[in-house]
Amino acid sequence: MAQGTSIDDLMARMTLAEKIGQLNLLSAGEGPETGSPRSRDIRARLAEGRLGALFGTKSVRSVRAWQELAVAGSRHGIPLLFAEDVIHGHRTIFPLPIALASSWDMALVEATARVAAAEAAAEGIRQVYAPMVDIARDARWGRIAESPGEDPFLAARYAEAMVRGLQGADLRAPDAVAACLKHFVAYGAAAGGRDYDNASLAPAELIGVYAEPFRAGVAAGAASVMAAFNAVNGQPMHAHRKLIDGWLRGTCGFEGLVVADYTGIHELMAHGIGDRETVAALALVAGVDIDMMGEDYLACLDRIAAEGLVRPDVGIEIDPAQVVEAIDRSCRRVLEMKERVGLFDDPFRYCDEARAARLTLAPAHRDLARRAAAACCVLLKNAGGVLPLAPGARVALIGRLADDRANMLGTWAVSGDPAEAATILEGLRETHDGEVRHAVGANLVDDPEIAARLDVFGPIVRLDPRQEREMTAEALALATDSDVVVLVAGEAKEHSGESASRTELDIPAPQRRLLEALAGAGKPVVLVVLAGRPLVLAREAGLADALVLGWFGGTEGGRGLADVLTGRAEPGGRLAVSLPARTGQVPLHHGAETTGRPWTGRFEKFRTGYLDLPDDVPPAGGLYPFGFGLGYTDFELDAPRVTPTRPTGGDRYVTVTVAVRNTGAQRGATVVQLYVTDPVARCVRPSRELKGFERVTLDPGEAREVAFTLGREDLAYLVGETIGTLERVWDPGTFVIHVGLNARDLRSVEIAWTP
Ligand code: NOJ
Repeated sequence: MAQGTSIDDLMARMTLAEKIGQLNLLSAGEGPETGSPRSRDIRARLAEGRLGALFGTKSVRSVRAWQELAVAGSRHGIPLLFAEDVIHGHRTIFPLPIALASSWDMALVEATARVAAAEAAAEGIRQVYAPMVDIARDARWGRIAESPGEDPFLAARYAEAMVRGLQGADLRAPDAVAACLKHFVAYGAAAGGRDYDNASLAPAELIGVYAEPFRAGVAAGAASVMAAFNAVNGQPMHAHRKLIDGWLRGTCGFEGLVVADYTGIHELMAHGIGDRETVAALALVAGVDIDMMGEDYLACLDRIAAEGLVRPDVGIEIDPAQVVEAIDRSCRRVLEMKERVGLFDDPFRYCDEARAARLTLAPAHRDLARRAAAACCVLLKNAGGVLPLAPGARVALIGRLADDRANMLGTWAVSGDPAEAATILEGLRETHDGEVRHAVGANLVDDPEIAARLDVFGPIVRLDPRQEREMTAEALALATDSDVVVLVAGEAKEHSGESASRTELDIPAPQRRLLEALAGAGKPVVLVVLAGRPLVLAREAGLADALVLGWFGGTEGGRGLADVLTGRAEPGGRLAVSLPARTGQVPLHHGAETTGRPWTGRFEKFRTGYLDLPDDVPPAGGLYPFGFGLGYTDFELDAPRVTPTRPTGGDRYVTVTVAVRNTGAQRGATVVQLYVTDPVARCVRPSRELKGFERVTLDPGEAREVAFTLGREDLAYLVGETIGTLERVWDPGTFVIHVGLNARDLRSVEIAWTP
């Protein structure tokens, strides 16, 4: 668009076909210079003005080359919008999102997103398909790895921090990219934890829990949103007009771009809601602006815009004017997005090879990644203070994952180079002042079929041809000749992620057998678990002296973990998801609704729970509760104090104050958490809801008062039979205010808030 031309002028000159072209998004695959069939198709589309955006470009050179073709080779010279999956870092990979959320450190989350944005923007990328803000309460679902966990309050803060970090203060800045909240909505509520499966949710839970991080992300200014693959309450999200056009744009006031997921519009046919023309029309009218990969808009909208669409069998009647209007609206949103991210000022400003080379894996980025990896590690057990490792201790570092680059980045790190990742062995050798020797000990998995599936994007399993007996013997010999065993065990990176749901949430069998053998060696055992999801670690917690959940820490994961093991850094993580005691406990979250026959902790036959769970495991709470994590010092909390003590209808908020004290021997940090229960309400409420948290760092013996403001609005909740009739209400009366260092061990006080 020439300087001075407005979007109105441009649109006035565009044909309908060109407008539809702006709604078409393809993956680039390789650069134009390769001459591959894909690149020939893209060239042809560009020449016809039938392509608006590309993703998956892989290099700044390829972005520039495509952009040159787009600007010079089409009638209006409209620049392409380049997008990419920048989920937990671009070239410098940070810990998985579930790990980042477990830091409960939103300044850190924001800082990682800033770095990701700077690296991506330097390569010409203007939009990233992040943050993923799907609430995930079912650890069978593989994409829990990409999610901020189970809690809407924490996830909403994560969404805001990610949007701030990615977009910065000015979307035109050379280190900013447009965020894309995904996957709208309730993708994480897939039935049975099966990826892509549908969700059925009461309206209040759908909006109050699953849509809450989207509301927060939109309020923080997110420029785009991606639709989810699944159907919600019987309507596939790519055609869910009530939720996209109604709630997201209407109630929530979202004015940005809605992008389809990969062939998400095309897949509406498999959902069974009509033929290609029908689904294209339904998605457009629902408010999906850009069609990713399916080219259904390209194939169908010209005709529907000319003739309308009547399909009595699926109850649709759309007239041509409605379609033309919707195409105009969506095309305008695409062009506005291009303008917002500065592409009309200078389509090449963001393709800066020198800057990209300077920023890619810059030392400061690696430092942040290392700090983040430590800040996300969750220390679950530390019997006898086995951690940090004693200086000089001779360490037997065991496990395939301990000396592994291929898995370290975790799932969805499409632009990360595993060769750049530090292994735990390297990290520990650099950090620990004592001998560190390594043995593989066991294969990651022993089922060749599973191994093949895990290797889908390249070899990550690397099966050792030796007999298991031989590997175990080698590991045992090393353990016997060392002071302490550090066993690194867990999942391969592709055990989680897209289309990687599991029916068992355990550490794969050969590694479990290895732990059992090592636990008998008479040496203290530190078990470090790498995983993309909460695993069942009940037996492991019994066998190991110390237990660290390291998730997948990214490029500097090996060094960050080594920092934690050696005490150079504290394990900063607090669980953003409850860890189940058994797979059968999922879905699981800390705020389960109260029931008529609650589980009380004492033996009663008729109560909500499971016959086969030990009595010390709350059936709705898991083995390790949400918010839990140890550091290297101890903290104590006083009971909370609330002022005013007797709030009335005139009070808009109360202040909750709690004293926290470092009772241990060293400086350290903890996360003070505020929860609320509404014990008497007009309908069944969650047993507890997170309403605030604050990270506090204290010297030994130091105490501090932490104050939270709890508004009356924070006690309100949604009620209603349909999405359209939801109302926010609050029920005056008794509230229980809890503070704690996790969702289970709480200090509580009851208050009465009169009308
Ligand atoms: C499918 C995934 O669901 C989505 O998260 C991703 O952004 C797109 N593919 C593009 O790669």
